[in-house]
Amino acid sequence: MDGRTRILIRGGKVVNEDLSFMSDVYIENGKIADIGRNLKVPAGAQIIDATNMLVMPGGIDTHTHMELAFMGTKAVDDFYIGTKAALAGGTTMIMDFVIPQKGTSLLEAYDRWRSTADPKVCCDYSLHVAVTWWGEQVKREMATLAAEQGVNSFKMFMAYKDVFMLSDQELYSAFSQCKEVGAIAQVHAENGDLIAEGAKKMLALGITGPEGHEMCRPEAVEAEATQRAVTIAHAVNCPLYVVHVMSKSAAKVVSNARRDGRVVFGEPIAAGLGTDGTHCWHKDWAHAARFVMGPPLRPDPSTPGYLMDLLANDDLSVTGTDNCTFSVCQKALGKDDFTKIPNGVNGVEDRMSVIWEKGVHSGKMDENRYVAVTSSNAAKIFNFYPQKGRIATGSDADVLVWDPNSTRTISASTHHQAVDYNIFEGMVCHGVPVVTISRGKVVYERGELAVKAGAGRFVPRPPFSEFVYKRVRQREQVCQPTAVVREPYRGKVISL
Ligand code: URP
Ligand code: ZN
Ligand code: ZN
Ligand code: ZN
Repeated sequence: MDGRTRILIRGGKVVNEDLSFMSDVYIENGKIADIGRNLKVPAGAQIIDATNMLVMPGGIDTHTHMELAFMGTKAVDDFYIGTKAALAGGTTMIMDFVIPQKGTSLLEAYDRWRSTADPKVCCDYSLHVAVTWWGEQVKREMATLAAEQGVNSFKMFMAYKDVFMLSDQELYSAFSQCKEVGAIAQVHAENGDLIAEGAKKMLALGITGPEGHEMCRPEAVEAEATQRAVTIAHAVNCPLYVVHVMSKSAAKVVSNARRDGRVVFGEPIAAGLGTDGTHCWHKDWAHAARFVMGPPLRPDPSTPGYLMDLLANDDLSVTGTDNCTFSVCQKALGKDDFTKIPNGVNGVEDRMSVIWEKGVHSGKMDENRYVAVTSSNAAKIFNFYPQKGRIATGSDADVLVWDPNSTRTISASTHHQAVDYNIFEGMVCHGVPVVTISRGKVVYERGELAVKAGAGRFVPRPPFSEFVYKRVRQREQVCQPTAVVREPYRGKVISL
């Protein structure tokens, strides 16, 4: 043997975002090397029988917060456990967020995240960077991150007043710099001032439990900020990506903006598509607190289905999880005051199954749209397609063998995450990951994980993603405002 890793996936149906076809897939040394019917078995190749299975690009989770220090504690899924769980669920790449404290260096925070994640990740990953304050240093560092460190997306918070929140003026500056350096502006769209006032009001009314979290920041608070972000992004001709779209009202804003021709993308998350906020009214405090995240899961039970319809029809574009997990004893920091409950839910392991169940099994989307919203669109928007997000010769061998006919029941008792509950507990999902291949190696097969900390690599993303920036650049050329050429006014002018 020559030491090369060879895998032949035989007899499956390859599913890309644009078409499906029966084919074998041959993997060699971390890349997809050949695609075709009845491929010859190369010497020493591991054979995977994919009869009656789908062979898809591995999932890309656009939104995670592994081991994030947040609201006085630290998320329990670290980069090792979190990426291990991702692989068990069919996700082969995560995109996490560097979140610097106000007034501190973005570059130093980025370096810190890299040195934390690099030795632990079991799958490939990439980093968005948050802009939590504004100044010349931030502007300079955004340019360096985009040009030299493979960061083409920056998240701006419109919520978390006095912690991460930016003013409209600062958003304008940050969006302008995103466009300058070829990045995508991401927003956490909620009106932070209204949340702060709403929270005071709820506490004054004696509402201290998890239901107060949603009641102080209803849908309109999310929709208003979403519209404001769309307006500011349009004013500076900057592409916009709305993270964690959680309500019907905010989703409508994104959808309308797209119909108005704006370069805007909306990201619903597994939690918002698979469950709802009614749980926050549960009599058992610990049960209710598990579902607290921002923006909140909505108590309107028709929300998940509505978000899925929009996702199926391209009003919303891509899916993440916002995986930011706090165990019940951590959530209990807010046992007497909902504003102190650490915000965040699970999802990284279950996103692929939840979206298959609620999207494909329900008949709302087909298998190709499923690949688009779980993988390809992320790779296109964030500029690493077709390196990932496609089963094609030369692409990275991040591959998922999927059984659409089997079912599994989601439970904290069987999941691989560190958190001590699962918000999807008891959900029966059609669509089961059978084999996950990461960087050309089988890392999960029929319930067995074979992962190694540090086996994943950082995926740098060049600026000016064509998928996003072609339109932006053209508009910059042809949509500049022009003055009316006229004779100077020669009449009387009053004196003041
Ligand atoms: O509740 C949430 N979403 N926690 C993580 C931080 C964020 O805003 O994404
Ligand atoms: Zn957020
Ligand atoms: Zn419940
Ligand atoms: Zn988040």
